[in-house]
Parts: sequence; structure tokens; C-alpha cells
Amino acid sequence: MHNTNNELLRKKIATRLEVSILVRTFYSKVRVHADLGPIFNGIITDWEVHLERLTDFWEMVLLNSGPGAGKFSPVPVHKAVDKQVNESIEQRHFGNWLELWFSTIDELFEGENADYAKEHARNMAHILFFRIVEGRGKST
Ligand code: HEM
Repeated sequence: MHNTNNELLRKKIATRLEVSILVRTFYSKVRVHADLGPIFNGIITDWEVHLERLTDFWEMVLLNSGPGAGKFSPVPVHKAVDKQVNESIEQRHFGNWLELWFSTIDELFEGENADYAKEHARNMAHILFFRIVEGRGKST
């Protein structure tokens, strides 16, 4: 009767429109998160540019389409973010990021691409955090 787990409403991630909805819903949560919000809001000056850029990224990862190919370098970008906040990025920031990403996906989407979006983010979180810590105290 009453559909509590949203099962009938969840969609597949099949087009750029769904990717865009995922990215925009996710960052609307990031922006007001107690620990993540100040970091993101302190660095990102044009949110519309960031949202379109991250939609390009996830469209490339999930749908293998869009203008994203070759234009991202997440490791140096996140090393630079860590430097901008005086090397204060911790494991828990990635934990918080992943919690918001997983809960947004589960609210709205289901299926293979939804699962892959979680898996890919989890892998990236490990790599990014490792490379941030590894690079601390060095110039690059
Ligand atoms: C698994 C976790 C994460 C993923 C998959 C991810 C993904 C990305 C990607 C793909 C970009 C664009 C990179 C480029 O322009 O080449 C980006 C930018 C950015 N990320 Fe992350 N990110 C993650 C975690 C975090 C965390 C934990 C923080 C901060 C606490 C963060 C802060 C930022 C900021 C501020 C930018 C924009 C940098 C700029 O425009 O100068 N990210 N992220």
C-alpha cells in the first residue's frame, strides 16, 4: 500500500538529465553540510560552472558520453583543495562526502549505473585521500 522505500519512484541513470539531477541534488546537500559546506563554498566561486563541470565528469564516467573526456585531473585538484585549507582534509571529509553521495543515489536512482556511481566514488575516495596525504609537505 504505502510505498515507504520509494521503490516505484526510483529511476535508472540513463541520460545526462538524470546525471544532472543526481549532481545538483548531491551538491545542494554538500553546500549546507556542517563540515563540507564551508570548504566547498570557500573555494568554489561559480557554482553553476562547478555543477556543469561535475555533470560532465559523471556523464563521462557513467554513460561514457558528453564533453568530459580528457578534461579532468582530480588528484592535483584535490591536492590543491587540501593546500587551500592548510592541509586539513581528513578521512572523515571523504566519509561525509560518500554518505551524501550514497544517500542521494539511493533516494533517486536504482540499477547498474547507480551501483557503479557508488563503487567509482568509493574507489576515488581511497585514491584521492591517499595521494593527498602522500603529497603533503612536498611542493607538488
Ligand atoms: C570520492 C570523493 C570525491 C570525488 C569523486 C570528487 C570528485 C571531484 C571532481 C571530479 C572534481 C573536478 C576535478 C577537475 O576539475 O579536474 C572535483 C572538484 C572539487 N572537489 Fe572533489 N571529489 C571528492 C571529494 C571531495 C572532498 C572530500 C572535498 C572537500 C572536502 C572536495 C572538494 C572539491 C572542490 C572544492 C572541488 C573544486 C576545485 C576547484 O574548482 O578549484 N572533493 N571533485
